[in-house]
Amino acid sequence: MKVSPKFNLTWAASKFQDYIFSWWQYHKRDLPWRRTYDPYKILVSEVMLQQTQVERVLPKYDEFLYFFPDVYTLARATPAKVLKLWRGMGYNRRALYLRKAAQKIIELHRGYFPENESDLVKLPGVGTYTARAILVFAYKKDIAMVDTNIRKIITHFFFNGIFQKENVILQVADKLLPKGRSWEWHQALMDYGSQVRGTNGKKQKPFKNSNRYFRGRVVDRLREGAITEKDLNVKPQIIESLIRDGLVVRGKDNMLRLPDAKT
Ligand code: ADE
Repeated sequence: MKVSPKFNLTWAASKFQDYIFSWWQYHKRDLPWRRTYDPYKILVSEVMLQQTQVERVLPKYDEFLYFFPDVYTLARATPAKVLKLWRGMGYNRRALYLRKAAQKIIELHRGYFPENESDLVKLPGVGTYTARAILVFAYKKDIAMVDTNIRKIITHFFFNGIFQKENVILQVADKLLPKGRSWEWHQALMDYGSQVRGTNGKKQKPFKNSNRYFRGRVVDRLREGAITEKDLNVKPQIIESLIRDGLVVRGKDNMLRLPDAKT
């Protein structure tokens, strides 16, 4: 087929929307965070889904919301308790950011999530993508969000698989968005991205000798209770970096613990 010399993105966008939505009719997934418009629950799911696969997130999401059903319960919890519930998901700092974000929402916004990107990105651990996920999935805003999977889809269909800068991808994402159907559109792209064009495992196993690996093992051990630095037997810089990040504290008794842990 001969293609018009001037590529018409508006025309292509409507064809592309038809294609994605017809695929989605038969492939949409029923996921618990798609049954709520509560921005808090959307935030929890998005933070969990950032580096962890859907299958692994499912049980954790329910458990987390059982213990912390709203920003107030999460804000009041000890870091130790939050980190214990985060077990098995990795990237433990995300759990602490989530708790801090809950505290900020209470302090700065009387417990209500802001409905604009500039206030949302000020929350700990919330970047442009997560802010927009809240605006789209909780408030149904017509705004384009781009994560790694959506970037892959756009690169594949509109740039022959050739890498493009962030702003180029965002411009195309804006044009592709069907106004008034932002919620469905992004859920559909998430499904298409992970089932057709994905990397549907986002999480790589950390190298067994990386700092990240050892940091994770230390937190794992501390979930079981306090221990001395000597008994832990890891490089001092690992411990120091965990203390700096607020994941570990050294008590007056010289024992290492998760912050505010009872044991
Ligand atoms: N990854 C990030 N957000 C998601 C969502 N809403 N559904 C499925 N996977 C996701």
